[in-house]
Amino acid sequence: MTASLNPPLAVAIMAAGKGTRMKSEDRPKVMHTLAGRSIIMHVLHTAFALEPESAQLIVGHMAAKLRQHVEQEASPEMFERLGWVEQLEQLGTGHAVQQVIPHLKGFKGHLAVLNGDVPLLSATTLQDLWQRHLDGRHVATLLTTRLNDPSGYGRIIKNPFGRFLAIREHKECSPEELAINEVNTGIYIFDWSQLERLLPQLNNDNAKGEYYLTDILGMLIEEGLPVGVHCMQDPREVLGINSRKELADVENILYERIREHWMLEGVTMRQPETISIDIDVELEADVEILPQCQLKGRTRVAAGSRIGPGSLLENALVGRQSQIVMSVINQAEVGDQVQIGPFAHLRPETQVADQAKVGNFVELKKARLGVGAKASHLSYLGDVEIGARSNIGAGTITCNYDGTYKHRIQMGEEVFVGSNSTLVAPLNLGNQAYIAAGSVITQDVEAGSLALGRARQVHKPGWVAKKQAR
Ligand code: UD1
Ligand code: MG
Repeated sequence: MTASLNPPLAVAIMAAGKGTRMKSEDRPKVMHTLAGRSIIMHVLHTAFALEPESAQLIVGHMAAKLRQHVEQEASPEMFERLGWVEQLEQLGTGHAVQQVIPHLKGFKGHLAVLNGDVPLLSATTLQDLWQRHLDGRHVATLLTTRLNDPSGYGRIIKNPFGRFLAIREHKECSPEELAINEVNTGIYIFDWSQLERLLPQLNNDNAKGEYYLTDILGMLIEEGLPVGVHCMQDPREVLGINSRKELADVENILYERIREHWMLEGVTMRQPETISIDIDVELEADVEILPQCQLKGRTRVAAGSRIGPGSLLENALVGRQSQIVMSVINQAEVGDQVQIGPFAHLRPETQVADQAKVGNFVELKKARLGVGAKASHLSYLGDVEIGARSNIGAGTITCNYDGTYKHRIQMGEEVFVGSNSTLVAPLNLGNQAYIAAGSVITQDVEAGSLALGRARQVHKPGWVAKKQAR
């Protein structure tokens, strides 16, 4: 489909509601996240697959907070096309779209109306809807689906020949109509000139006392205008989120989809249902993910690496053929053929170069570990640069903080730090410097030197016998 050949399209996203059932004090419903992206950003990403001229966000509840969030998360392409429509009182979906009218003055094209709380809608489905709308030369096309339990949804009313007549809201349905299981998903495309003409004619003379956008469809049919219905097979795509329970259910569906996607791309997963991968994570073929892993944010893992079991990676970069066992990596970078863990913690701005090793109970913060360097056991290494092939003994601690300021330690290549050493920053250790075990090092050590910084051992022969005689 070539966007330029199609008539202009704008998108309106209804997101003014409070989302009472979320019981959320700190944010509007659509700012809750699934798989590392907010509900509203999921909807925006889908909307932009249609390359709309503009996307009008209809906001009301906590509008300022929502706007700040979206502007921060939006890509530059989205940002320049965002329109903000304030709906001060939430008087219904029809009222919501009425607020768009002044923002689309003179617009000649079509308007896709999306529900701000339906995050799983795929770009393919939306594109199909748009294509149907164009091919059928409809003035409106609505997306429907069939549900085992249609309660709460607007029902699709058809004549005995199966022709669409109207949408009837749950509360207005007769007992026979309540049995209809084809429902309105709240997603439509309208010819804007028709919608603009009819919106002012809506009334709120109904069970909820709201202006229903759904009434527009019945009005168009009464005028004999062509309205299309696109019934989709998989109702899971159009699930709305109204409660934390639904948030969890929908997030699980999304995680499952993401896993399937990566497995099809050549990623092996063991017990996949225990693995969660955020939407912006990227994996190469032949990555293997073992049980109980979470990959979050913009984490990237290159070919042949094995993650897990039991690892948490957040905005982590992992090179090729590395292994991350039961460890936490947060905003840190790991090269090729690196061994991490078990039980290592890589904190922000850490870089571990190729073939390096970070073993159990080692914490790294703003640390750079050179090619082939090792810190195999029980260490805290912060604000430190460690040269290639250096070896950091068990129990080594960098004292990088004097209570007020942080200081750095610079270590050359092939430095040997004996076990249980305390390195007090600021400090320079030259190439092949050698630190005796148990040292407290407070002064620079020149290349190739041995430094001892510990008390001499004292021997008192016969001391035990004298003690016992007392
Ligand atoms: C709506 C449809 C119903 C459909 C269902 C699908 C109407 C009248 N009914 O019902 O046919 O089956 O969606 O989920 O449209 N919103 C505003 N401003 C308002 C009211 C709502 O922005 O004044 C937003 C809400 O934040 C929400 C969306 O519109 O994102 C849908 O509103 P909601 O109240 O959930 O409509 P439903 O009663 O579910
Ligand atoms: Mg709803």
